[in-house]
Amino acid sequence: MAEPVPGSGPVLAIETSCDDTCAAVVDGDRILSNVISSQRAHERFGGVVPEVASRRHIELIGPVVETALDEAGVDLDRISSVAVTSGPGLIGALLVGVSTAKALADARRLPFVPTDHLEGHVAANFLEPDPLEPPFLCLVASGGHTLLAGVRSRDGFEVLGETLDDAAGEAIDKGARMLGLGFPGGPALQRLAEEGSPDAFDFPVAMSRDPGLDFSFSGTKTALAYTCRDLGEGGVERNRADLAASYQAAIVGQLVAKLDRALRSGEWPAVALGGGVAANGPLREAVSRLCEERGLDLKLVPLELCTDNAAMIAAASQSSRPLAWPDYLGFDPLASPWRS
Ligand SMILES: Nc1ncnc2c1ncn2[C@@H]1O[C@H](COP(=O)(O)OP(=O)(O)OP(=O)(O)O)[C@@H](O)[C@H]1O
Ligand SMILES: [Mg+2]
Repeated sequence: MAEPVPGSGPVLAIETSCDDTCAAVVDGDRILSNVISSQRAHERFGGVVPEVASRRHIELIGPVVETALDEAGVDLDRISSVAVTSGPGLIGALLVGVSTAKALADARRLPFVPTDHLEGHVAANFLEPDPLEPPFLCLVASGGHTLLAGVRSRDGFEVLGETLDDAAGEAIDKGARMLGLGFPGGPALQRLAEEGSPDAFDFPVAMSRDPGLDFSFSGTKTALAYTCRDLGEGGVERNRADLAASYQAAIVGQLVAKLDRALRSGEWPAVALGGGVAANGPLREAVSRLCEERGLDLKLVPLELCTDNAAMIAAASQSSRPLAWPDYLGFDPLASPWRS
């Protein structure tokens, strides 16, 4: 069968890989709507509970898609293809998005585009305002991944370095939890850190003598755990802001040091950020300073395009392989290459 060619017109995209239920309508690089319903149900557990996430996605996905179409002022008849995150992610959560996308595409016999979540975090940079054209170096730091992506075209990226253990976001969330902050910890840790000193505690900037481009955050996390143990409950309470500021500085310090190292090749004229940790204020400021010193262009995506959203999936889907009706009806994210 010939490859399906999505007609011109807006893409409807769905993202349910973790705990945000998202749908968007995107036309080219223009976002017509971008609806994100963040599940609050996980807060009391201090982390995402996969089964709870799947069940909430089932409740939310219908209204979220409807709102995305309404806000865009577009009905399903005008949609040219349906894109969906097919991995990596929580399998039960992915299944909800994939099943919904298949049903919507099937209803109009539209092409269906399974899309990589990490390509989505990179492709957020292709969206308006001010789309960034490759080549550029993208630091992707999220809840499950941390990597340096060499982006030479809109078709994908090369992984130049990645974390050997925890993702930056995971280390941030676990650290925030040790300091008694809620989940997700990133925004709360950043707020608390504003009241403290980044020099108060000497947490190691891991991998600083490593000549490669890989990352490691588990040692920094352990250092915080031992410091908290030694300080005791009262000591942690008295030093919470300093602990937050010093811990955040060690994580941001490593991200920026590795980015700096990767830029020494001189290959990259521009820098971009992706993933939830890209919303971090001190990281954005440090990367801005680095790019200014090196005379490089910098694209900082708006905060709502850093954490999970479906507009980035629509952007990535434009260079992903569409599947024709009815071939995709048997598409199964369980069999996708992201599952090892
Ligand atoms: N202002 C912030 N400062 C630091 N970290 C932040 C900030 N805002 C969000 N984060 C972190 O971003 C992470 C969530 O990012 P994202 O939604 O991209 O991750 P994910 O989708 O769960 O993981 P992945 O994209 O790897 O599958 C969380 O760890 C959260 O704490
Ligand atoms: Mg993500």
